[in-house]
Amino acid sequence: MYLLGIDIGTSGTKTVLFDTKGKQVASALEEYGMAQPKAGWAEQNPEDWWHAVANTIKQVIDASGIEPDQIKGIGLSGQMHGLVLLDEHNQVIRPSIIWCDQRTQKQCDDMTAIVGRDKLIEITGNPAITGFTASKILWVKDNEPKNYERVHHILLPKDYIRLKLTGVYATEVSDASGMQLLDIEKRDWSDELLELLGIDRNLLAKVYESVEVTGGVTADVSQLTGLAKGTPVVGGAGDQAAGAIGNGIIAKGHVSATIGTSGVVFAHTDKPLKDPKGRIQTFCHALPGAWHVMGVTQGAGLSLRWYRDNFCTNEQHVAEDMGCDPYELMTKEAAQAEVGSKGLMYLPYLMGERTPHLDPYAKGVFFGIAPSHTKRDMIRAIMEGVTYSLRDCLTLIHDLGIETNTVRVSGGGSKSALWRQMQADIYDRPVTTIHASEGPALGVAILAGVGTGVFSSVEEACEQLIDYGEGIQPNTANHQRYMQFYTLYAKLYAQLKDTFK
Ligand code: XUL
Repeated sequence: MYLLGIDIGTSGTKTVLFDTKGKQVASALEEYGMAQPKAGWAEQNPEDWWHAVANTIKQVIDASGIEPDQIKGIGLSGQMHGLVLLDEHNQVIRPSIIWCDQRTQKQCDDMTAIVGRDKLIEITGNPAITGFTASKILWVKDNEPKNYERVHHILLPKDYIRLKLTGVYATEVSDASGMQLLDIEKRDWSDELLELLGIDRNLLAKVYESVEVTGGVTADVSQLTGLAKGTPVVGGAGDQAAGAIGNGIIAKGHVSATIGTSGVVFAHTDKPLKDPKGRIQTFCHALPGAWHVMGVTQGAGLSLRWYRDNFCTNEQHVAEDMGCDPYELMTKEAAQAEVGSKGLMYLPYLMGERTPHLDPYAKGVFFGIAPSHTKRDMIRAIMEGVTYSLRDCLTLIHDLGIETNTVRVSGGGSKSALWRQMQADIYDRPVTTIHASEGPALGVAILAGVGTGVFSSVEEACEQLIDYGEGIQPNTANHQRYMQFYTLYAKLYAQLKDTFK
């Protein structure tokens, strides 16, 4: 028996086939681009996601040599908050405005004026946030009324893929929370909010729990991909909740830090615990009956990718020749720089910032460049700046009274030994890892296993499937050194924020 996890990420889609012991049988990745038609805007074409999903499913089935009907269930994970608008024929009306797009401050101000900040936090767990879907819907209403008139369905990225796979309009609680239209305590759309914002409930998909089966693969998709017709597709989860399940963040005291395109510190909670200042986000967890809080650094891996794409072309060529990952070469260079990058500081606010500043206008900054600095200092400064920002997230979560004694690190960034140790040193806490960490894809494969009866619960599945790795202790001398630089890092935003607008 096998389970398929599909993660529709920002830089690409990864499809992974697991056996029921959690071992990877085959995996495939297809990358795509992101358009930035204006500063602060970010869009993708939903058809690119679908092609990547169909191609990677085909590749995985071919490479594994299994019979497709041995796949018991499929789980979908994906970048959260993206707005997919469909017309009456299910055609995409305009490119998707994705999670890191920052154009909607005016609509956030409108939402706050109409609903009230406290009420927004009470219902949705969060104040109006530019990255979330509700303000994007209002932006299209305000700026592209002709497009809005044609809208018959509003979906999130992974739920658009579900529609393509199964023909069903469905979402689930974790991703739906990030639309900012869900009553997170009731785990269903808030009629009150929809009425206040003038959004028709019929445009939205039906909300499921993440482990529930939402539909089965259609005959057409079976022909296209090789999947068996009728293979069940469960709710799945937004990438952060999915990654958390894949990391075993399923009980009190469990905290993870994930460095992907964005960087996220995530903690499980038994109740919908809300930050009255709105700097920490509160959403439904993919685990039935649970919630989670998270702090988000918008430009984590994105900062390193920006640097790689623009200044590390040589590393890219060498890596291609050697058949290795350019990030491996970059982080090796960074490991030769000293702690604190000789005073070079980096603020990772390339796409504004969510936690702790909630500032869509914030910008990325290199500060303190001297002739002695080299490329290796710049790469290390980026890694340090991202980690300081994650420390800010962890501190705010800790301040909400949540236990944060150890942190499970994951995501592309945590493949680097340097970045894992840097996290332990900057957080001043032991960090633990997961072997063969496939966070979101494994997380939704687990949800698929639970939804189709392969496992009796998420807890049982995590127990059987997750291979916990080693623990890394913080180095006290490094921690103290980093904290001297962190003080300057924290001052820089305060000094610069008025210049960002
Ligand atoms: C979470 C968030 C990002 C995206 C892209 O709130 O915005 O993590 O899901 O990964």
